[in-house]
Amino acid sequence: MEETIPPMESGNLHDYEVACKEFAWASVDKEFDWSKGSIYNVAYEAIDRHAKNWRRNKIALYSVRADGVVDKHTFGEMSELTSRFASGLLKLGAKKGDRIFVYLDRTPELYISMIGVTKMGGIVGPLFSALGHDAVKDRALDAGANIIITSPYLYERIIPVLDDLIDLKKIVIVGDTEGMCDRCVKFEDVLASGDPEYQAENMAPTDPYIIHYTSGSTGKPKGVLLGHRAMPQQLITSKWVLDLREDDTYWCTADPGWVTGTSYGIFGPWYLGTSIVSYEGRFDARTWYSLLERFKITVWYTAPTALRMLMRAGDELVKEFNFSKLRHVCSVGEPLNAEVIRWAMRTMNKRIHDTWWQTETGAHIICNYPAMTIRPGSMGRPIPGVIAGVVDEEGNEAPPGTEGYLAIRPGWPSMMLGVWRNTPKFREYFEVPGWYISGDLAYRDEDGYFWFLGRADDVIKTSGERLGPFEVESALIEHYAVAEAGVIGKPDELRGEIVKAFITLRPGNEPSEDLKEDITKFVKTRLAYYAYPREIDFVDSLPKTRSGKIMRRVLKAKELGQPVGDLSTLDD
Ligand code: WT7
Repeated sequence: MEETIPPMESGNLHDYEVACKEFAWASVDKEFDWSKGSIYNVAYEAIDRHAKNWRRNKIALYSVRADGVVDKHTFGEMSELTSRFASGLLKLGAKKGDRIFVYLDRTPELYISMIGVTKMGGIVGPLFSALGHDAVKDRALDAGANIIITSPYLYERIIPVLDDLIDLKKIVIVGDTEGMCDRCVKFEDVLASGDPEYQAENMAPTDPYIIHYTSGSTGKPKGVLLGHRAMPQQLITSKWVLDLREDDTYWCTADPGWVTGTSYGIFGPWYLGTSIVSYEGRFDARTWYSLLERFKITVWYTAPTALRMLMRAGDELVKEFNFSKLRHVCSVGEPLNAEVIRWAMRTMNKRIHDTWWQTETGAHIICNYPAMTIRPGSMGRPIPGVIAGVVDEEGNEAPPGTEGYLAIRPGWPSMMLGVWRNTPKFREYFEVPGWYISGDLAYRDEDGYFWFLGRADDVIKTSGERLGPFEVESALIEHYAVAEAGVIGKPDELRGEIVKAFITLRPGNEPSEDLKEDITKFVKTRLAYYAYPREIDFVDSLPKTRSGKIMRRVLKAKELGQPVGDLSTLDD
């Protein structure tokens, strides 16, 4: 018999089948103050609304520093701080629609900035603090960033590119600004200059509140715009999928530099008035378990690579901690192995609920729900109110068990509004009539469960981070010794995939371990610490098409010992 994990006894979504038939999006609107005539703004609904009711003194944020010290902020405090920050930004000269980047570690200032910027109608651009100066430059230049909010050590890191950022007017520094450029202002001073009573700017549903840079198989990362209209979908999925309830303490391990860390690390849970925990430090099995125990986390959203690392840390370690408060666990970002699901059942007696979605979808699309049977290895079924399918190139739905493109019927509330200054890229998602094409390959079983098969393109997923080979290749060829580079994702048991680079050298350079190390360091500091090739092969030439494009497909097939397929366009 096929392996399944029985449903939990209760869940916010009681009956999936019934909800699919009866659910209407308009029913979610009632949960927002704007349906009663108040301001329309994500920041208002996430924070200010709660500051006006009994949640005023409820903890909105437990921010755990890397050294373990905790800062707590209530919804009331967050409302005041973010109003101050929003109006302080306006006094600095910021305007509605400005792109304001937040390049900070997970500290309270990061959350104050995210809410503060959206409150004054800005488009917030969160940047993961692991990004290097070239990655920041690419994004800030593309978006025409007007302001960057950062900290002294991250400011130091981007000094080499600051002069290139022609639209940048101010740099807000969390900390001391001594010796910094004259565009620099103190975060503290922006707060002090602001009005604690400032009211959120009234926005339109199709106004963007956030720009998330994400990778495709060609070109540099593109700016995906999500709109204020994403609210209903982020709220209802926080209820149905994360199963959040009033007395929960919730921990999303994703950084707000990625969409999981904003849709479900900030906005969705806060629309419901949930207390969230944020941890500044990096992954460490013992620390993570102790955070779950110490904060009595009830709902936990994390990623397969982290779960595999925990699994690797051993069953004995699990036994040292008390997870009796943990009620619900979800995973996202890469395929969740059936083995990991079995491990969590065995060691913690917890079901792990896989969820599938993308930066571009803005919120959950295909998920497992508490009150539904889990089929380990399957991503689950579409959320009520959204239609997903597996289709061929013409848009015809594939029969059960047949591979095809994972697609969605356009028009779900949190669908991206567009790609910043790149309409052709946006259109590419809609080339199959009647569908949004995700770039993933999947099949659906007889009962409508979706199963992930892989990417239809060259996009790499390493430890859940989405990386385009082009970005890595571009960084590599800027190294003095590198002539050409071809980059692929190589399957890896722990990280899902690792970045592997094939490199030809410029005349006068010899392959060596030292050179590999130097190239690795070069990519880490310029692009991002996770984006470097963990494997480098020096080769004499790269397979190319007659028009000179590197055939990554051939590199990958050779690496994996698979047939290389059609080589008719290969140059030699
Ligand atoms: C890509 C989107 C928004 C969530 C975080 C990632 C892969 C995502 C799953 C899953 C297998 C998954 C897909 C997708 N992916 N979730 N449950 N099982 N693969 O967002 O960085 O925009 O990446 O992540 O390939 O297209 P993202």
